[in-house]
Amino acid sequence: MQPTADDRCALRPVRTSDAPAVLAAFRSAADMARQGGVQTLEQAQEQVAWLRAPQRRAVAIVDQDDLLVGLVAISVDEDNRSGWFFYWLHAGHRGRGLAARAAATVAEHALTPSDEGGWGLERLELGHRVENAGSGAVARAAGFVHEGTERGKFLVDGLRRDVHVMGRLRSDPAPPTAGLPWR
Ligand SMILES: CC(C)(COP(=O)(O)OP(=O)(O)OC[C@H]1O[C@@H](n2cnc3c(N)ncnc32)[C@H](O)[C@@H]1OP(=O)(O)O)[C@@H](O)C(=O)NCCC(=O)NCCS
Repeated sequence: MQPTADDRCALRPVRTSDAPAVLAAFRSAADMARQGGVQTLEQAQEQVAWLRAPQRRAVAIVDQDDLLVGLVAISVDEDNRSGWFFYWLHAGHRGRGLAARAAATVAEHALTPSDEGGWGLERLELGHRVENAGSGAVARAAGFVHEGTERGKFLVDGLRRDVHVMGRLRSDPAPPTAGLPWR
């Protein structure tokens, strides 16, 4: 897969037809295993259906050919006007700021009031393993701040791993990160 020209990448809702690209992303790196365990096209189709459920907002990061190369998504808790935020990128498109730019744009849109065209949430939160420095950098670039550390949260390869909890409130300042356009 050719690296994407970042200035031609954009955001759009995840579609049912994205399943093959989702499978390719999950096959691109071992660290995708913790993002949903997709190994077959059928599992990719189930993952896409899960992402497109009414309580989720799933945004595809697409290249110049409208091919999905990454994802930023939110599981919405309507009662609390909050959302659990997560993201991943095909390994062939990492390391050039795409995830950071996409996460910043989606977080800003999610925290924008409904009457201004946004999704009306007031709080976003996520957790990443302490050693997942890339995920932490993406979260900070999207305006999240470190709220605490859950000790020994996950059991990974026989070791208990600490997790950083990150959050962003509507009232927090927007980050200076350049965004990605919506398509
Ligand atoms: C996390 C992930 C989306 C980051 O993708 P990426 O393409 O590297 O992200 P970006 O290019 O936007 O980089 C954003 C920042 O992360 C930093 N970064 C990326 N990988 C890093 C690593 N392994 N170690 C340290 N910093 C890293 C970049 O340098 C950049 O920092 P900067 O803004 O200070 O320059 C990608 O690694 C991924 O999909 N991982 C697997 C899924 C995952 O872990 N998702 C998060 C779950 S909590």
